[in-house]
Amino acid sequence: MALNALPGAEAKRGAVRDMFDRIAPRYDRMNRLISAGLDQRWRRAALDHVDVRTGDRLLDLACGTGDFAEHAAARGAQVLGIDFAAQMLRNAQHRGISAQFTQADATALPVADASATALTCGFALRNFVALPEVFAEMARVLEPGGRFALLEVDRPRNPLIAAGHTLYFDRFVPRLGAWLSDRDAYAYLPQSTVYLPPEAELLQMLAAAGFVKVHKRSLLLGAVQLLTGVRGETR
Ligand SMILES: C[S@@+](CC[C@H](N)C(=O)[O-])C[C@H]1O[C@@H](n2cnc3c(N)ncnc32)[C@H](O)[C@@H]1O
Repeated sequence: MALNALPGAEAKRGAVRDMFDRIAPRYDRMNRLISAGLDQRWRRAALDHVDVRTGDRLLDLACGTGDFAEHAAARGAQVLGIDFAAQMLRNAQHRGISAQFTQADATALPVADASATALTCGFALRNFVALPEVFAEMARVLEPGGRFALLEVDRPRNPLIAAGHTLYFDRFVPRLGAWLSDRDAYAYLPQSTVYLPPEAELLQMLAAAGFVKVHKRSLLLGAVQLLTGVRGETR
């Protein structure tokens, strides 16, 4: 299935997994190139915002090749990275990161209730089939008071910035991706933002899953969003 056809829910899970398996060898290089290296700064900022430190048991959801896991482990956290794409995980495992990596779906995490103190997820929300199911799993595995940080792409609101962003993200990035990596995958990247619910709905979904202090910050003039929050006492 060509991903630029934007598959519906049934086809999406398999199509997304196949796509990440396909682009895994060039994934890190493309990320650094597209973001001019800023993606790593955003991951570090996300960990700062939820104060990841020694003693944390951190779950990195949809960990991909292990970037978040590497930064969290460097801060002394005990890290478990979970992803459903075998090739992405293989790359993570070959990096020598002091973390464990396991293949699983975000809607059925092989992790005990309330066993994590912190959770990260980088640039995966728009790839999930059902966000409420994933948020429910996040709430299940985080202990009360456990913190999460979710990074995701976004669309700038300022019309002038939005115009420049569209040129870059919707026109230039797909061409660069087609040239250096995979045409379908980098055509899907801008298109997949349509899977993201509007801000109010997204924050409401997180609150409904049992999270409190849910907050959205805009990074890079609104091109990236950082969602943070805390698992409430009840859910
Ligand atoms: C854009 S990559 C992000 C990888 C990494 N978090 C990062 O910051 O670079 C999205 C990742 O989400 C994973 N993914 C998507 N849907 C998933 C699901 N339902 N369960 C587990 N992993 C999933 C993909 O395999 C892919 O590795």
